[in-house]
Amino acid sequence: MNRYLAQLHRYPFEKLAALKNGCQPPRDLAHIALSIGEPQHPAPHFVIESLIAHMHQLSTYPSTRGKPELREAIASWLSNRFCIKTGLIDPQHHVLPVNGTREALFAIAQCVVDQNLKDTLVFMPNPFYQIYEGAAIMAGARPRYLDCREINQYLPDLDAISDSEWKQCQLIYICSPGNPTGSVMPPNYLRRLIELAQKHDFIIASDECYAEIYFDEDNPPPGLLGVAAGMGLDNFSRCLAFHSLSKRSNLPGLRSGFVAGDAEILHQFLIYRTYHGSSMPPPTQTASTAAWGDEAHVIENRQRYREKFERVLSLLSDTLAPQKPQAGFYLWAATPIPDTEFARRLYSEQNVTVLPGQYLSRDGGDGNPGENRVRMALVAPLEECLDAANRINSLLSTL
Ligand SMILES: Cc1ncc(COP(=O)(O)O)c(C=O)c1O
Repeated sequence: MNRYLAQLHRYPFEKLAALKNGCQPPRDLAHIALSIGEPQHPAPHFVIESLIAHMHQLSTYPSTRGKPELREAIASWLSNRFCIKTGLIDPQHHVLPVNGTREALFAIAQCVVDQNLKDTLVFMPNPFYQIYEGAAIMAGARPRYLDCREINQYLPDLDAISDSEWKQCQLIYICSPGNPTGSVMPPNYLRRLIELAQKHDFIIASDECYAEIYFDEDNPPPGLLGVAAGMGLDNFSRCLAFHSLSKRSNLPGLRSGFVAGDAEILHQFLIYRTYHGSSMPPPTQTASTAAWGDEAHVIENRQRYREKFERVLSLLSDTLAPQKPQAGFYLWAATPIPDTEFARRLYSEQNVTVLPGQYLSRDGGDGNPGENRVRMALVAPLEECLDAANRINSLLSTL
C-alpha cells in the first residue's frame, strides 16, 4: 500500500457522525442540516435541457483538453468576470476543464510537487477545505498550516512565514472567498503573494469556487488571474485559478469546473490528466458551455443567498451574533461553549446539524483556530434556515 494513505486524517463528516452517535434528537422536530456545503437552490433548467438534448454525445470519447467551445466560453467568462484584457486568456493554452474543482485541486499537487526535493512544504489556510491536506500528503509533501484568525481578517499572515519556509514551499493553496470563513483576499494581498511566488519559485493554486456567491453586485471578489494580469504578468506565471459550476450554478452533481492560468504548468497538467484519465463527458461539456455563458441565473442565485443571510443574521444578531461573511454561503460563528459540545447539543436537543470548527482545522503550533467555532451552510430553503436559526436561539437560551 502507498505509505501516505495511513497519514490521511479522518474526514470531518466521519468525525461528525461519531460525535452524533448515540444522540436521540426530538422526533417532533424535522432534521435540518447546516453542516454540508451542498447547494440546494434549483439547477438552471436550460443546463439540464442542454444535458438531456446532448446525451447522444455519449457515443464518443471526450478529449482531456475539452472541446474548443467550452474552453472559449470559459475564457470569455474569465475575461469578463475579472476584467482581463480580451485575448490575454488563450482558450487553447490557458484553460483546462476539470470534473469539479475537488479532483483538480487534489491532482495538481500530484502533478507539480517534486518529491525528490528535501522537506517539501505545501502551504494551506487553516481552517481549510480538506482536499488540500490530503493532496499534500499523497504528493509526499508536508502540509504547512497557515492560521486564519479574526485578528488577521481570517487571512494567512504572509509576514509570519520565514524566507527559509518560503524556499521549501512548492505549492500554496489559497481559498478566496474562504471556506469556512468567507474572507476575501483583497488585490494588494494577492499581488504580494504573486510577488512572493516569483521570488521563491512556488505555485499558487487559488481555489475560487465561491467567487460567484457575494452580496454586493457592484463589488465582486477579485481573483488571482485578474490581479496577475493587472500587474502585467501576462503569462500568469506560477498562477492557477480553480473555478466551478457547483456553487455558481447549483450544479454540484454535474462535476464541472476548470483550471486556468500558467500555460506551462497547464501543459504538464494536461499530460498528467491524460494518463490519469480525467476527461469530462461530452454532454457535460456542452451543458457547461451553456452555463458559463449565462449570468441571469447566477444573479438570481445571489439574490436568494442575500435574502437568506439578511433574515438569518437578523434572527441571530442578539444571540449567537455571527459576523456576516464577505462572500460565500457559510457562517463561521463563535460558540459560547466548546464547538463539539455546541454541535452535539444542537443536534440532540434541536435536531439541527452544524459542523464543529475544529474538524476543519489543525493545531499548527498555536492552537486550533477552528476551536469554539461552528460552520453553518445556509444552503437549505429560506424557511428551513429561519427555523434552524430559531432553534439555535432556543438552545442558546438554555446555556
Ligand atoms: C473550498 C472548496 N473548494 C472546492 C470544492 C469542490 O467543489 P467542486 O468539486 O464541486 O467544484 C468545495 C466544495 O464544497 C469547496 O468548499
